[in-house]
Amino acid sequence: MPALPWRSKALLLADVLHRSFKIAGMPKNWKTKLIHSDAKIPEGFRSLSSGVQRASTVLFPSAASVKDEWDQYEVGYTYGLYGTPTTLELAARVCELEGGFRTMITPGGQCAISLINLAFLKAGDHVLIPESVYTPSRKFAAKVLRKFGVEVGFYPPEAGSGIQAHFRENTRMVWCESPGSITLEVQDIPAIAEVAHAAGAMVVMDNTWSAGIHFDAFAHGVDVTMQALTKYVGGHSDLLLGSITARDEKKWRQLGATQQLVGCAASPDDCSLALRGLKTMAVRLKAIEEAALSLARWLGERSEIERVLHPGLPSCPGHEFWKRDFTGSTGVFSVVFQPRFSKAQVQRFVDQLQLFEIGYSWAGVTSLAVAYDFHATPGRPDYGHRIVRLNIGLEDRDDLKADLTQALEGMG
Ligand SMILES: Cc1ncc(COP(=O)(O)O)c(C=O)c1O
Repeated sequence: MPALPWRSKALLLADVLHRSFKIAGMPKNWKTKLIHSDAKIPEGFRSLSSGVQRASTVLFPSAASVKDEWDQYEVGYTYGLYGTPTTLELAARVCELEGGFRTMITPGGQCAISLINLAFLKAGDHVLIPESVYTPSRKFAAKVLRKFGVEVGFYPPEAGSGIQAHFRENTRMVWCESPGSITLEVQDIPAIAEVAHAAGAMVVMDNTWSAGIHFDAFAHGVDVTMQALTKYVGGHSDLLLGSITARDEKKWRQLGATQQLVGCAASPDDCSLALRGLKTMAVRLKAIEEAALSLARWLGERSEIERVLHPGLPSCPGHEFWKRDFTGSTGVFSVVFQPRFSKAQVQRFVDQLQLFEIGYSWAGVTSLAVAYDFHATPGRPDYGHRIVRLNIGLEDRDDLKADLTQALEGMG
């Protein structure tokens, strides 16, 4: 749990003494006891799990101490919206892993994306976004940012230092997502960061695929990262959470002030599940990495498959940057079928899978498959209807291989 400043601890103690004195000295109707109880339980409980602290109202020790300020590290706890100890514990744990200045938790990954844009962009600014970005992130830029007068440009994810050609005088932010959603292009982040910083723009990265573990974003020049904790930190497809981590205090303050006014708070119950998820993340990541790599290699040898888009394989665009900058891989990759397969056949492949389920999101324990169609998607590679994204879960690897084999053989 993040340490409270001494002043807050003192205020808390004064508050407890004050309240118990008030309650003990007053006779109470049973209805009042429902709210202000004198019941006692044993003290000294210790366990291995983090407590779940839910709150909208946070108590102040005196009328004069009441304040509505978001930075709970600075002023102590003031309102549930800005985090309870459960939320702040998850934030501090994610920050510790990512090596930033501080982290805030949002109710989902998409919320983290929107909040970053709202915190750092204003009318008249220009933002650059990779064509391979997560689709709702693209839509937020195209529909919401443009509505508020922000200029939005898209750049090829492989641009590297060639991103320079996409800069304008008013470019203030460059988004990266590496590897990209569905098409998995690994980006040359240090090259992009160098150009951006020279032009006075900040670099923001969606670091969800690496779980904030396999890619050290801050060491590679990123200023602000976000993750959908919904994925590997949660790990069981049963919660939605996001994180934003800032490299420095100035950016952290800008984010906090915006979060206070946007008013998005994560549920402490979900945060406690994510804290539990963290404990097993290392073993899940390792098992998933090994299974995904082995299945990706095997799929690459199948005659039905034209190309496997797994960052750990040379067939993936930007594989050289993965090799240079990443310490491992996770469980999401895509396959591109040979041109001879129709859309109906590709969909039949997905429908015939028995163990792989069909559904959005990823990084849970269940393997998933989703077919995409890029025919009407500008800026994406020419894979048409032939691309299927796989999420590898924790099922037995040979069973998954058998499932993929029977579905490939049944494509017709
Ligand atoms: C790369 C990436 N970023 C962000 C998100 C959004 O996360 P959430 O579903 O928690 O809003 C997703 C969700 O699929 C994603 O794949």
